[in-house]
Amino acid sequence: MKIAVIGAGSSYTPELVEGILKAPLPIEEVWLVDLPEGRQRVETIAALARRMARRAGKGIRFLPTEDRLEAIRGAAFVLNQFRVGLLRMRGLDERLPLRHGVVGQETTGPGGFANALRTIPVVRQIAEEVETHAPGAWLLNFTNPAGLVTQALVDLGHRRAVGLCNIPRITERMVAQAAGVPQDAVRISAFGLNHLTGTRIAIGGEDVTAQVLASGAAEAELAKSAPRAKPPEGFFASLGFLPNPYLNYFFFPQATYEHALRDALSPEGTRAQRVQVLEDALFARYRDEELDEKPPELAQRGGAYYSEVAVDAMVALSGDVPRELVLNTENRGAIAQLPGSAVVERNALVDRTGVRTVPAEEPMPPLLGALVGAVKEYELLTVQAALEGSRRKAREALLAHPLVPGTEVAQALLDDLAAANAEFWPVLR
Ligand code: G6P
Repeated sequence: MKIAVIGAGSSYTPELVEGILKAPLPIEEVWLVDLPEGRQRVETIAALARRMARRAGKGIRFLPTEDRLEAIRGAAFVLNQFRVGLLRMRGLDERLPLRHGVVGQETTGPGGFANALRTIPVVRQIAEEVETHAPGAWLLNFTNPAGLVTQALVDLGHRRAVGLCNIPRITERMVAQAAGVPQDAVRISAFGLNHLTGTRIAIGGEDVTAQVLASGAAEAELAKSAPRAKPPEGFFASLGFLPNPYLNYFFFPQATYEHALRDALSPEGTRAQRVQVLEDALFARYRDEELDEKPPELAQRGGAYYSEVAVDAMVALSGDVPRELVLNTENRGAIAQLPGSAVVERNALVDRTGVRTVPAEEPMPPLLGALVGAVKEYELLTVQAALEGSRRKAREALLAHPLVPGTEVAQALLDDLAAANAEFWPVLR
């Protein structure tokens, strides 16, 4: 089995390699693709991966390349984890919206919008290459904004594509740990969009969502992924679902904006700058020829367990026995309030025949339903803006976003983001 990893020069890759080395799959080759400017990084990663394979006693070959087609040709799985414009552009996604009084973030709000317009044209090319050179392959997309990017793939007709996120897995692990039960005793039921889900939790078949919310521990733990204000008394307990941490941007827009502004003005800078410092230190470790395992420092990045999610998806998509996973895929009636073709983050049964969403047990509660509905329309408009090069749809997308307060701000944001992203965005007319 051949796997292609696109954007393999990421400091995250050793996490993925660790998962691949443990995967119960007949993997022979992992092609590590990056651009010429990432050559040194990808070679460092390949050398570390080979040391990790030796330590694990596995004969898997790790092959760095700049030739994407060579990597994709005949692959069973293609994993997207690239970042168009690298951390430099993530830094702008985090900063520019602040000038307009709106939070800057790599997936949520106008920052995620700018990222999507950079990413969709590239992902479109990759999907076409996969269709031509590896027609049976599944495209597993981690590239952010992961849900929106998967929506673009589905709208383009690429049905062998799913979007993946580590947060459902983090949630499962956290609940299992807090309750002192094995992870497979916990079942989460997620409904909504990527980074915008509500989750209900069951242990041993019994719904324990109310207890999990009442304890406050899970929500507080998740809040580490996104800042928030001190909530009003009983706020989280009253929701009826465990909120995805990124909902904090919608529940507490003022506090999260102020937090982002403080970061941007601090000497350490925004998350992109902090990640850059971490990355430099990680690559210094990776270059150590004695190192033959994933270093613990990698846990300081936000992507914990993404390798488990990737491997579980590959195992399920290769197997005959359906496995239930939470992933981003076409709704097909699972969430009643959303169209069938909307990409949702939802439980699905997965096997070699494909992905079938599991109908949600109940409709989304109105508060979540309202946000999800608006953000889905924003996503659909963003995809159309990117694919058609439509300035009007780009403006309407921003205007539809719940964090953007009206036409004046939407227009000013669009002008500012378009100027900063000229090198990467499609031309908008
Ligand atoms: C979480 C999110 C990912 C995001 C990551 C950021 O894992 O689910 O979508 O990419 O955090 O982590 P970083 O270390 O890059 O800030």
